[in-house]
Amino acid sequence: MQEYKRQIVEAANAIRARVDSIPDTALVLGSGSGGFAAQMESAVRIPYSEVPHMRVSTVKGHDGAFLFGAVRGRPVMVMSGRLHMYEGYEPKEITFPIRVMQELGVRTLLLTNAAGGVNTGYHEGCFMMLCDHINFTGRNPLIGPNDDSLGTRFPDMSCVYDPALRDAARAIALEKGIPLFEGVYMQFYGPSFETPAEIRMARAMGADAVGMSTVPEVVVARHGGMRVLGVSCITNMAAGILDQPLNHAEVTETANRVKGQFRALLDAVVEKM
Ligand code: HPA
Repeated sequence: MQEYKRQIVEAANAIRARVDSIPDTALVLGSGSGGFAAQMESAVRIPYSEVPHMRVSTVKGHDGAFLFGAVRGRPVMVMSGRLHMYEGYEPKEITFPIRVMQELGVRTLLLTNAAGGVNTGYHEGCFMMLCDHINFTGRNPLIGPNDDSLGTRFPDMSCVYDPALRDAARAIALEKGIPLFEGVYMQFYGPSFETPAEIRMARAMGADAVGMSTVPEVVVARHGGMRVLGVSCITNMAAGILDQPLNHAEVTETANRVKGQFRALLDAVVEKM
């Protein structure tokens, strides 16, 4: 067995030893969806630091634990707080938990993030469901020898975000009156915010929102055969669109302001997954 695979199995076994059963659905919660974790029913909490070979999040406002519990009676596994490449981690390190989920038997993955709106039809505090992405990091978590037991060497990325899950999310948003745009997410490496010129480039390339996460996890999840859904909370308009500087406080403020709506949307989506 390859070393990386051995680590995945070890981590998965450590988790299995602490929970009664493993859900087939998992969530990766980014900035802005912290409120979601707080209301999970009878959650078992496993800090990343207690899982072998797992890295820990270093970002303020990001928790660092796996939660096992239920949302509206539906069992889910949650990553409360994610890892980012801008923290200095390798793509394979930040996607390690997705591999652990795969090893545990998770089949469906919902990821959230905070993002900057590039599409000028968006507004601060709205939500965007990902219909596609652009990997602008220059990195890919699948680089290196391929472990065929995890997935194929050249995985197809022509339909990354599951159409049936998107249909369900769209219907829920409509029913609840929550504005949900659909667009292309472009990931930059970070941690500096983009320049106005980079945002104009992103728009010209077809991006509707920009952020610093999600794409590596999604690539690995698809490589592992999971169904994927992604939702961004547009916490700010991207650099150069409004006549004001960007800062992390604005990101967390907006995320906090709309967290009730975000939670209502995610709850209903999870129920339908
Ligand atoms: N750019 C990149 N990442 C982000 C932004 C942004 O404007 N807002 C929240 N995350």
